[in-house]
Amino acid sequence: MPTPLPPDATVVFNGEFRPAADARYALEERGVLFADGVYEVVRYDRGRPFAMQPHLDRLAHSLDGIGLNGVDVEAFHAWSDALMQRNHLTDAKVYWQVTRGDAGPRDFFMPPPEDQHANCVVMAYPAAPVARGSVPTPGGGLIVEDCRWTKCWIKSLMLQPASMAKTAAKNAGCVEAIFERAKPGTHESHITEGGSTNVFIVRDGELHTHPNDGWILGGITRDVIVQSARDDLGLTVREACFTAEELFAADEVFVCSTTQLNPLVTVNQRRIGDGQPGKTTLQLRRSYLERVLAD
Ligand code: PDD
Repeated sequence: MPTPLPPDATVVFNGEFRPAADARYALEERGVLFADGVYEVVRYDRGRPFAMQPHLDRLAHSLDGIGLNGVDVEAFHAWSDALMQRNHLTDAKVYWQVTRGDAGPRDFFMPPPEDQHANCVVMAYPAAPVARGSVPTPGGGLIVEDCRWTKCWIKSLMLQPASMAKTAAKNAGCVEAIFERAKPGTHESHITEGGSTNVFIVRDGELHTHPNDGWILGGITRDVIVQSARDDLGLTVREACFTAEELFAADEVFVCSTTQLNPLVTVNQRRIGDGQPGKTTLQLRRSYLERVLAD
């Protein structure tokens, strides 16, 4: 279970500190009515953010993707630092959310830019500190149809498909859903990413992951893993599509995000490799944790 916000937690609402219990959205907020907004999750470790600039850049890119302009993206850095201090936290998952605001009666048409009053929220969920020797949590994956829209590069609040997929996975005793999609113009289906993670497979010592071509969210952890695999482990990394059959035949499978890097030892109840967390996965996990600790 994720850690809840402490009962006395403070959040940042449009640049101001507010008790979490008092921060409220209007019923006609476009974020509520249309999931019209975007978000980010940033990891803080020992009081410092990991990969802050890529998160700020991705937020700006997502806002651009939904045509929500005029948000001071850089402010999220200062707000997050201030919130961590205010809540006396050193280790946390910091959640950012930008919604298009309250635009009056429910209307599909977006208001003109001058009538858009975005709401910006920052919340800090306490988390366990990153530990060098921490043991990963191996689990199973469940392949489900990737029925999301075609702009998966936008970190959109429209998370119903992900929520349904992850719940189906949980109900099947798995830890993550794995999306599979037949893209227009292709004959076969490919694995895209996880419900809230990027998916990697290891085969014959090489690392494979779906290209960052818009059909996945360009994960910040994914980028760190790709870099670390090449630079620290000297691995060949192929950013290329793979099928479910190729995933079943892999030696190792793992999923990663800002909040986790965990091996999948079964997928659709089929054993992956020898059914144990793989050597390469564990090495990559160690070098990822080193980077978090060194940042
Ligand atoms: N999810 N793909 C999807 C669909 C995601 O939702 C996420 C992150 C990732 C990994 O991105 P990153 O490495 O930048 O965290 C990939 C976050 C953690 C969430 O929704 O809570």
